[in-house]
Amino acid sequence: MLEILAPKEQGEVLVEGKVAAMTIKKISILGGYGRAGNKDPVDRVDLAMGDVLSIVGPTGSGKTALINDIGLFASENTPSRRRILINDVVPSNEFLDDPSKNPIALITQHTSFLSDLPVHKFLDIHARIRHSERPGSVVDDTLEFANQLTGEPIIVDSAMTELSGGQSRALLIADAVIIGNSPIILLDEIENAGINRTKALELLRKYEKIFVFVTHDPHIALLSGYRIVMKNGAMQDVITTGAEERRVAETIDRIDKVIVNLREKIRGGDRLTEEELRVIMELASLVSI
Ligand SMILES: Nc1ncnc2c1ncn2[C@@H]1O[C@H](COP(=O)(O)OP(=O)(O)OP(=O)(O)O)[C@@H](O)[C@H]1O
Ligand SMILES: [Mg+2]
Repeated sequence: MLEILAPKEQGEVLVEGKVAAMTIKKISILGGYGRAGNKDPVDRVDLAMGDVLSIVGPTGSGKTALINDIGLFASENTPSRRRILINDVVPSNEFLDDPSKNPIALITQHTSFLSDLPVHKFLDIHARIRHSERPGSVVDDTLEFANQLTGEPIIVDSAMTELSGGQSRALLIADAVIIGNSPIILLDEIENAGINRTKALELLRKYEKIFVFVTHDPHIALLSGYRIVMKNGAMQDVITTGAEERRVAETIDRIDKVIVNLREKIRGGDRLTEEELRVIMELASLVSI
């Protein structure tokens, strides 16, 4: 880990976790090759601390492969032959060998826990491993964060293996952000987990980290500062979100609220009526009755 740091910062690295958050300033993806062996049209992407970035593209276009390249600190050793730099240099192997030193938290599309510890015990152990000064309140904060993303609150005495898919992902996100304090968080398709993604983005934005979202969701894509467009396994383009797209995002937000509202009703066992839909759309300022 030391080799990636500028000399004046080397002393700080001894306290892991929090210091890593301070010392990582930038992560770079150096282009490799797409699935057909064609060169990535985008040959370099630099992500600065505080950036929120999306990866978009059709199913099978290589989004998960790209996020895995980042999570593995690829060095021409993955099918894409891409390379990842941290603060402009090749990251140390220590990042991969010692999970507590790894600055990247990758929350995958297919999450499952192998541990059947109760939720509170699992979080408490993690908080202690991370040398948290106040394990109890860190665990409470983590659960509160996770519960804002889920429909049904997590029961702290239930086993980790009993959590639903959405609850597991919500807990992993909260754990990575709060207990893990990871400076770089990669999230593969949170929309499919059934968690409140607008709320997630709103909560996450309060933390100074690099967030990378693989997404099919236009709202998340437009709330990101920029997005990498994938095609046939290659990084095809990088689009920066401009003023017009930010305005579009505001309307999408209203459309989203309508969908969330309808989803909640369906989940709650209600029937939907045309009149109700009109009222919800009117409330969201999408139509005037
Ligand atoms: N640059 C590449 N070189 C070689 N193989 C690749 C490359 N990019 C992706 N692949 C392969 O293509 C397949 C599909 O890619 P991937 O799973 O990343 O797609 P995706 O965009 O995440 O799709 P989905 O939206 O369904 O999750 C995988 O088997 C992956 O290993
Ligand atoms: Mg994928």
